Amino acid sequence: MAFKERVFSGVQPTGNLHLGNYLGAITKFVALQDTYDCIYCVVDLHAITVWQDPVELKRTIREVTAAFIASGIDPKKQIIFNQSQVAEHAELAWIFNCVARLGWLNRMTQFKEKAGKDRENASVGLYAYPNLMAADILVYRATHVPVGEDQKQHLELARDISQKFNFDFAKSIASHGFDEAFFPQPEPLIQGPATRVMSLRDGSKKMSKSEPSDYSRINLTDDADTIAQKVRKAKTDPEALPSEEEGLKPRPEADNLVGIYAALNGTTKADVLREFGGAQFSSFKMALVDLSVAKLGPIGAEMKKLVQDHDYIDSILADGSKRASVIAGETMKAVKDIVGFVRS
Ligand code: TYM
Repeated sequence: MAFKERVFSGVQPTGNLHLGNYLGAITKFVALQDTYDCIYCVVDLHAITVWQDPVELKRTIREVTAAFIASGIDPKKQIIFNQSQVAEHAELAWIFNCVARLGWLNRMTQFKEKAGKDRENASVGLYAYPNLMAADILVYRATHVPVGEDQKQHLELARDISQKFNFDFAKSIASHGFDEAFFPQPEPLIQGPATRVMSLRDGSKKMSKSEPSDYSRINLTDDADTIAQKVRKAKTDPEALPSEEEGLKPRPEADNLVGIYAALNGTTKADVLREFGGAQFSSFKMALVDLSVAKLGPIGAEMKKLVQDHDYIDSILADGSKRASVIAGETMKAVKDIVGFVRS
């Protein structure tokens, strides 16, 4: 069966949105809206797999929504909503809890990293989180999923769940009029020079919301002075920039800054090195500050404005949830029939 092409992706409302979220995911969301029907979700159910302050959670849900809009996603053309307003995510996740195997979840590296040494004390939700992520995507039978590199393993799991569901219920799927498969195999879209933006303090660590030092990341709401300070303080090595990409391989910090420049400028690392090969970091960093401030400044300012307007943001989420519910509701009805539930 040919599936209607549809894009789905999600961002957690936890902590500050940073340059990694923006370059690895949100800029891709914006670009894809010209070619696809897109659904972009503020995944608040995922956020609570680790305890969140309820007052702060409401604020960050609105802030991520504001970031989507400020970055250029059109909420009238595309769907923007928060996950907890569409109950079918949690409903399908339960069914997937019964499809996915313990062995599959045991391999998830992100759970191991997040749970750390205190695994016994991690929430059950944190462990089952990839099943909910599969449900997010498949409840819309989405075919394309733009994400950063760190989500690749979760996408592979979503594909495994889709395949196993299709296999386990093949007879029932056929008897309900679907020719081959009920769920598609969602395709990860992980492309470009900044699929894994690294910490500005340590080129071997991913830029992340949870890193204690704020100097490790550029937040989308940082003002121009803060961005300039963070870029100037970013760790580098004493060599000049190489002229070829090959020369970046043993230099993770240089590689990271060149990748950030390329992604912000919509070019490639090779292009950046053609321009800056042989330059010292002091002059490259100056150019990077100017570019970062030019690209991120207006988005941060618009986010700060939008986030004040609760009525506007909440109305976008309500409208998006209503439209998302129609699609998710159709899928869940079919899933219930396929699984064998009686429904009125
Ligand atoms: P989250 O909220 O951690 O991150 C949101 C998006 O930002 C990307 N990202 C990065 N990209 C490049 N470099 C980085 N340093 C960096 N840090 C984060 C992430 O890859 C992601 O694309 N589980 C997901 C949210 C989710 C989801 C989904 C995504 C829930 N359901 C369904 C896609 C489809 C997460 O925690 O992303």
